[in-house]
Amino acid sequence: MKNKPFFDFIQAYPDYEQTTAIDKLREADYSILDQSNTVYLDYTGGGLYADSQLAAHHNLLRRNIFGNPHSYNPTSLHATSLVESARQYVLEYFNASPDEYVCIFTQNASGALKIIGESYPFGDGCQYVLIFDNHNSVNGIREYAHAKGARVRYIPVVLPDLRVDTKVLFNALEDTNKACSNLFAFPAQSNFSGVQHPLEWIVEAQSLGWDVLLDAAAFAPTNPLDLSKWKPDFVPLSFYKMFGYPTGIGALLARKEKINAMQRSWFAGGTTSVASVRGEKHYPADAPARFEDGTIDYLNIPAVEIGLRHLRSIGYEIIHKRVSTLTGWLLDALQNLHHKNGNSLVKIYGPLSTEKRGGTVTINFFDENGKLIPKPLLEKEANKRNISIRMGFFCNPGAGEVALDISTDELASCFSRPKYEKRLSDLDFQHCIDPKATGAVRVSVGLVSNFADINAFVDFARFFVNNR
Ligand SMILES: Cc1ncc(COP(=O)(O)O)c(C=O)c1O
Repeated sequence: MKNKPFFDFIQAYPDYEQTTAIDKLREADYSILDQSNTVYLDYTGGGLYADSQLAAHHNLLRRNIFGNPHSYNPTSLHATSLVESARQYVLEYFNASPDEYVCIFTQNASGALKIIGESYPFGDGCQYVLIFDNHNSVNGIREYAHAKGARVRYIPVVLPDLRVDTKVLFNALEDTNKACSNLFAFPAQSNFSGVQHPLEWIVEAQSLGWDVLLDAAAFAPTNPLDLSKWKPDFVPLSFYKMFGYPTGIGALLARKEKINAMQRSWFAGGTTSVASVRGEKHYPADAPARFEDGTIDYLNIPAVEIGLRHLRSIGYEIIHKRVSTLTGWLLDALQNLHHKNGNSLVKIYGPLSTEKRGGTVTINFFDENGKLIPKPLLEKEANKRNISIRMGFFCNPGAGEVALDISTDELASCFSRPKYEKRLSDLDFQHCIDPKATGAVRVSVGLVSNFADINAFVDFARFFVNNR
């Protein structure tokens, strides 16, 4: 589509023209997108899969017989060998030495985070420090930390960019009992604002005696993570976010030294070297087996290797260029939308340039009087146009509360109402804090996004200029 907006875009972001291989890929391997006139802008929610990934996986299943691993019969061994090949490839993909890291297959990133929560040796006087800008599955670890007597400390993100004041962070990290197990958690990329937090924090925190949990779920789909350069202790991932298929598989990449020191509060099939009933004793296997409960998803795990090879064949350089040019244009275009009285249509939460940010853009729409345009109206119009975007807080309440200026006092006054002592639905919450508690609108660009997708979204946005 070589029209005026496209030429303006190319003038502003000439690097996009170096990414035409992605247009060919989209045509060949993701043709359903254009055939169905789908404008998919929810890549932070989930990536899309290529036809070729499905074909390769289905061929593999059709041409082989796989049995449950954990045995030495031929079909079992066959399944084990493909699972182990995928496991090895995951490490290789992230440049993680098998001497240093293990890959534990989980159901998703949340499953990986739950392993850390359950098994991390928090104790009295130890700390769990995390930044406001985290997914709820990272926030949820605080419940384990509290239960084991550790102190939980949050470091705020600051407007307008929703980044952390590094001085505040390091004041907190310097205040530590080195005799303790202390965990610091942050996302490499925010699923709320797209901010990419500094990976340099990893080694700096470790040098102060912290174990580091780097949530790479939103970062890994469009950015290379080199674990020979950056060495966090724990890295949770969801593979469907990277390449769409299969869902239901994630991983915890963990430093061997740390993970093998972690004890579980139960055992299950496959997690022990020996378990005895009469002797009432069990011996945990080493990681990864210690943390993989029961039968792993042995038919789908080989599709993880197929997906990673697919991503590698495309290469992060081109993916990154495409995402960053489209994100830049989206940010510019949204900032240029004004009502007739000069008021802005859109407020963007997070950085306004492409520097140190990914392709996740979170916004709200306001009418000419500065009143929030209700989400149901936006949703209805977006759905009419077959545009997939996401609304709410995206399981990241910390960044959301700062972005939307929902104060601690407001929250305390809502949560302390007697009727909300035990239960609070999302609708109740909206009544309590309305209208801020409806959250925001998230647009996210990914692997095979193109200019037409962004243009369709900007057209959708323009529909709301002086429209109420
Ligand atoms: C940054 C981040 N961490 C963790 C998760 C949790 O991933 P999952 O829902 O696949 O467990 C998500 C999902 O959106 C995410 O964006």
